[in-house]
Amino acid sequence: MTKALIVYGTRYGAAASTSEEIAKVFRQEGLEVRVVNAKEEKVNNITDCDLVVVGSGILINKWTSEPEKFLKKFQKELTRKKVALFVCCGSASYATMAQPEVAAKAKRKYLEEKAVQYNLQPVALGFFGGVYNYNKEPWWAKKAMEAERPKIEAAYKETQPGVYDTRDWNAIRSWAKELAQKAK
Ligand SMILES: Cc1cc2nc3c(=O)[nH]c(=O)nc-3n(C[C@H](O)[C@H](O)[C@H](O)COP(=O)(O)O)c2cc1C
Repeated sequence: MTKALIVYGTRYGAAASTSEEIAKVFRQEGLEVRVVNAKEEKVNNITDCDLVVVGSGILINKWTSEPEKFLKKFQKELTRKKVALFVCCGSASYATMAQPEVAAKAKRKYLEEKAVQYNLQPVALGFFGGVYNYNKEPWWAKKAMEAERPKIEAAYKETQPGVYDTRDWNAIRSWAKELAQKAK
């Protein structure tokens, strides 16, 4: 059985639920999957994995530190495996709206440059929307988040009170399905 490992880092939950959805599709496609929140669990060995998916939410242009640590730790071994990277971010949300050049720049920065940094040649790069959670505003970002709020409210569905999910689940599922085929 083809074995997949999904390792993610999150602060607002988007990378977590995206990972779970990817895992669901992988299982439907017959893969064996392990999903790891890199903040809560350490991966000690990836020898058995045929496909490794590493993902993160983006805050201030950066990946969370935990999946980065994973990439560093297994950098050499990952160069010999099928690897896919994904991010959940605000820039991908706006991509679908008006500014494709903003999205292209963000994709380059968050995904393509990350692959180069770790000398990886990913079989897939997933550029997905994020979650805006107005119940969890960091004090230092409150002003900026509140300024954006009318736009967010107008454009996206409120999935729970104060929470706006900007992801395209069909795009995530298709990405995962295609990736599962490549892993087999
Ligand atoms: C304080 C803060 C900073 C953010 N910075 C960026 C950013 O630099 N680029 C971007 O595309 N999205 C940014 N976002 C949107 C996040 O990427 C989005 O909330 C995403 O869901 C975060 O991933 P997570 O839910 O897995 O933590 C930011 C969000 C917050 C709350």
